Amino acid sequence: MSEQTQSQDLQQEHQKYIEEVGDWTRTHSCGQLTEADDGAEVCLMGWAQYRRDHGGLIFVDLRDREGLTQVVFSPEIAPKAHEDAHILRAEYVLAIKGRVRPRPEGMTNPNLVTGGIEVVVKEWKLLNTSKTPPFPIEDRTDAGENLRLAWRYLDLRRPRMQANLRLRHRVAQAIRRYLDEGGFIEVETPILTKSTPEGARDFLVPSRLNNGQFYALPQSPQLFKQLLMVGGFDRYFQIVRCFRDEDLRADRQPEFTQVDIEMSFVDEEKVMNMAEGLMARVFKDVMGQDIPRPFPRMPYAEAMSRYGVDKPDTRFGLELHDITDIVRGSGFKLFAVATLVKAMKVPGGESMTRKEIDAYTDFVKIYGAQGLAWIKIKADEWQSPIAKFLSDEERKGIAEALDLKVGDIVFFQAGEPGMVNAALGNLRVHLGNQLGLIPENTFNFLWVTDFPLFEYDEEEKRYVACHHPFTSPAPGHLELMATDPAHTRARAYDMVLNGNEVGGGSIRIHSAEVQRRMFAALGFTPEQAEEQFGFLISALEQGAPPHGGLAFGLDRLVMLLAGAQSIRDVIAFPKTQKATCLMTQAPSEVSAKQLRELGLRLREKSGETTPAPAAGN
Ligand code: AMO
Repeated sequence: MSEQTQSQDLQQEHQKYIEEVGDWTRTHSCGQLTEADDGAEVCLMGWAQYRRDHGGLIFVDLRDREGLTQVVFSPEIAPKAHEDAHILRAEYVLAIKGRVRPRPEGMTNPNLVTGGIEVVVKEWKLLNTSKTPPFPIEDRTDAGENLRLAWRYLDLRRPRMQANLRLRHRVAQAIRRYLDEGGFIEVETPILTKSTPEGARDFLVPSRLNNGQFYALPQSPQLFKQLLMVGGFDRYFQIVRCFRDEDLRADRQPEFTQVDIEMSFVDEEKVMNMAEGLMARVFKDVMGQDIPRPFPRMPYAEAMSRYGVDKPDTRFGLELHDITDIVRGSGFKLFAVATLVKAMKVPGGESMTRKEIDAYTDFVKIYGAQGLAWIKIKADEWQSPIAKFLSDEERKGIAEALDLKVGDIVFFQAGEPGMVNAALGNLRVHLGNQLGLIPENTFNFLWVTDFPLFEYDEEEKRYVACHHPFTSPAPGHLELMATDPAHTRARAYDMVLNGNEVGGGSIRIHSAEVQRRMFAALGFTPEQAEEQFGFLISALEQGAPPHGGLAFGLDRLVMLLAGAQSIRDVIAFPKTQKATCLMTQAPSEVSAKQLRELGLRLREKSGETTPAPAAGN
């Protein structure tokens, strides 16, 4: 008989023991009792973690969300309770009544709050049985993430997940307290809304009452919060679900939560000050930590130049150096012709093996690099496949620019600025992690400011908004929007924590005329702008106050506070990298009737069925 059938048979047999809770009331949680409770008569309820039979006694670790308490079934003290306890299996649900006593000498567990005591059971009830769980309910699990996600409610019983979600709760409560005290009003905005271009891909919801038409799930409540400012609310916030159909990563989910904030009659300083205050409050209330303020600021251009990314992790060095001018006339053709050449020194990296360097080369290829040039600085030579192409003058220039010392390794990247920065900037973070250069338990906040208003989209062959098209150009940059989009700056700011973008926002356009010019700069005809965003332009014509705000990514913030590696670990029911839910099997097919009502027909595509992009009959 297989283990599974055996367990099912037992479980069925045990069903007959199941009782109601009745008038039993819990007196304590399973994480509460200590030596101070010696002699107390208590009632606990929870899950059986382990059962150990030992010298006639049966020990069970009873678990609830607060912790574990050892309960003992003794044939001398309560023979019936002891006899029945033989049916107990992992994850059975039970209620016990008994007396607290100190554990015998040598049996205490200093790692548990309750480790000095045990409860001797007088009577107990079986509240439910459980099939054998597919993985043990404990922090040290070797269960893969897919298995954990398929059985998420079991995974959620693990102390780590319990702690993460409680941390999330405390963060959310601290945020609510701070914003409420600051006069912010929590307003809900629609989930079924209008699909508008610009931004990530929308999730669409077909309309039954208006066949052929679609709602979009909000990528953020951006326009609604601006309309709330026009509506006179002055200070708004919402802890709100946002939806984006984008490629997923460890810090991205298709549905995620923002702390969304908007304020009227403000400038950058006021918004940033409020946002810093919010972070300080969260750290104080939740972590008991004072964080230094004001947060340092770094213009976007400096971040890109020194770190290669717009969200630099400033906890460690390994800065990038622009050596384009030094190697302009180099005998190494790749360097000579490149738009940008950058170098990064890793002190002491000279001992890296070929295998390690090859792995880093593969890493930068993710970012479009062809390869990774390197030089090891030895006492008597520069060891490198490329050193022979460099003149003495170039060597001198590089050595000075990077302050090279014997024992260093230098990595180079040459080509288009986007690729060079992405490759070296991400390699920098990768090396920081791999080489253990990042101090633990350090929280480095940073504002990145002075963003460009536009960025060029190679695919669309046009400028798109760097933040979103409602962001105001910097003072004096209004005319540049039409004449020199590449050099137009935005009144935007991102908050970065340990190299993660945890929040971002801007001062908005509140003039209808400027908003029209913005749409024109993005390539919209006046008709297209009117069709897509007419309601916004109308609102801006109706006495819109100056306003601005920002949104935090709550999942990312909690992930960093929890020391988790992925936002999936701080979301109760997350999706996989393929945007599926392994527990409910969403997304799933729907019935022909449902499709008919929605006016949709599926189109056959290479053997698979995929939803049609537009309405059929
Ligand atoms: P933005 O697009 O920068 O701004 O989003 C704000 C913050 O939300 C988080 N975030 C995400 N978290 C998890 N999964 C995702 N897919 C994801 N996408 C974004 C990030 C980010 O900093 N309406 C503007 C804000 C404003 O201008 O006020 C907005 O949505 O932490």
